[in-house]
Amino acid sequence: MHIGIIGTGYVGLVTGACFAEFGVNVVCADKDREKIASLVAGKIPFYEPGLEEIVQKNVKKGFLRFTDRLSEAVDQSLVVFIAVGTPPRGDGSADLRFVEEVAKEIALNLDGYKVVVTKSTVPVGTGSKLKKLIRENLKNGGDFDVASNPEFLREGSAIEDFMRPNRVVIGTESPQAAAILKDLYNPLYLLDTPFVLTDIETAELIKYASNAFLATKISFINELSRLCEKVGADVGTVAKGMGLDKRIGSKFLHAGPGFGGSCFPKDTRAIINLARENGLELKLIESSVRVNEEQKMLMVDKIKDAMGQVGGKTLSVLGLSFKPNTDDMREAPAISIIGELMKQGARIRAFDPVAAGTAKKMLPDGVAYFKDPYEAAMGADGLVILTEWNELRNLDMERMRSVLAGNFFFDLRNIYDPARMRQTGFKYYSVGRS
Ligand SMILES: NC(=O)c1ccc[n+]([C@@H]2O[C@H](COP(=O)([O-])OP(=O)(O)OC[C@H]3O[C@@H](n4cnc5c(N)ncnc54)[C@H](O)[C@@H]3O)[C@@H](O)[C@H]2O)c1
Repeated sequence: MHIGIIGTGYVGLVTGACFAEFGVNVVCADKDREKIASLVAGKIPFYEPGLEEIVQKNVKKGFLRFTDRLSEAVDQSLVVFIAVGTPPRGDGSADLRFVEEVAKEIALNLDGYKVVVTKSTVPVGTGSKLKKLIRENLKNGGDFDVASNPEFLREGSAIEDFMRPNRVVIGTESPQAAAILKDLYNPLYLLDTPFVLTDIETAELIKYASNAFLATKISFINELSRLCEKVGADVGTVAKGMGLDKRIGSKFLHAGPGFGGSCFPKDTRAIINLARENGLELKLIESSVRVNEEQKMLMVDKIKDAMGQVGGKTLSVLGLSFKPNTDDMREAPAISIIGELMKQGARIRAFDPVAAGTAKKMLPDGVAYFKDPYEAAMGADGLVILTEWNELRNLDMERMRSVLAGNFFFDLRNIYDPARMRQTGFKYYSVGRS
């Protein structure tokens, strides 16, 4: 089968590379010429473990090709995936500009029958809007069906998530489109991956509902961590005790500085907006968003309360990306936390194993970046761990103490044991653990 993927970002590139790995002929298109030039040269424009290898392998085998001309991704393809960004607008709603732009271009290039699939996260109703838009813009005739096939991969483990997903959701009214997509996903079907076949609206909502639920789980434990601090309980053990109940599950119950990334913040706001447009208030999800905003500022308060003030102090921040194994800085808690610390007069020395390049574009000027955590700690009054990179889980505490000027240690991901940390002579603070 020949397929086209429009939008070669985290989702589009992983989707294209993984389908190529399944033996499908894939053309990936993006309007960003620099990105395409870098991909043609065999370089991945962002950090995702394992991706470079499968991209290079499949380009070599002839299964994967890159182009900046959208028509090339449509021409021979039976299935065309739309995987462009759907960033938030000022009011929180999803900006569908790129999706609509691509749908119109697909229409102009359509001749035979094709299935046009949204992989981008789009609000309910987008599928039927696109159907209309494509029909109105057809130039050479052509027949098509639309489908929704939301993506659930996690950055940092995207290949594994794509190759072994918990489920594949396909929404379409067309039995023909459903059969084609099932055929495309056949390698996963053979692995007994559950398939949810439904209508477009339901498929679109499954994606938002899933992200809103996971975000709510994080906000739930973060809010509970505040109570733990007041009453002397340990949030890690509370989460463990809760998570062992199979009805609850242990995932996404780690207290920390709040959720970030390219999906949870924008998708929670978008589902709230979608509900408002339909005359509803999603009170639980609204609270999750509010708790998350508060959580980031509570981390700043925690640092300030411990140190007296942060003005004039130097803090070494270790870990900047919104989670480990990615260089994605979109809505990373580091942005608000570092921004606020600097506003209050702190100087920041930062280290991240891979995200320094993207961080430079998103953090305030004046942050100093270092290639090593000990260098970043040199002469600082305190350390702040913001991302639980493996590289930060086994710091040499003696060496750290010798390079730091002060002895404050803020472990905002709870990766160290409080009792052992106190033995090292640090003034140790974490989240939800007294
Ligand atoms: N990143 C994730 O972890 C993740 C997971 C699941 C779903 N999603 C959803 O998938 C979608 C894509 O996310 P992403 O993180 O891959 O975005 P991204 O910003 O990394 O990539 C989007 C790409 O689309 C390209 N693009 C925009 N307009 C275009 C056009 N008219 N023609 C061709 N290319 C165009 C951009 O140049 C960019 O390379 C979003 O809706 C997102 O919510 C993302």
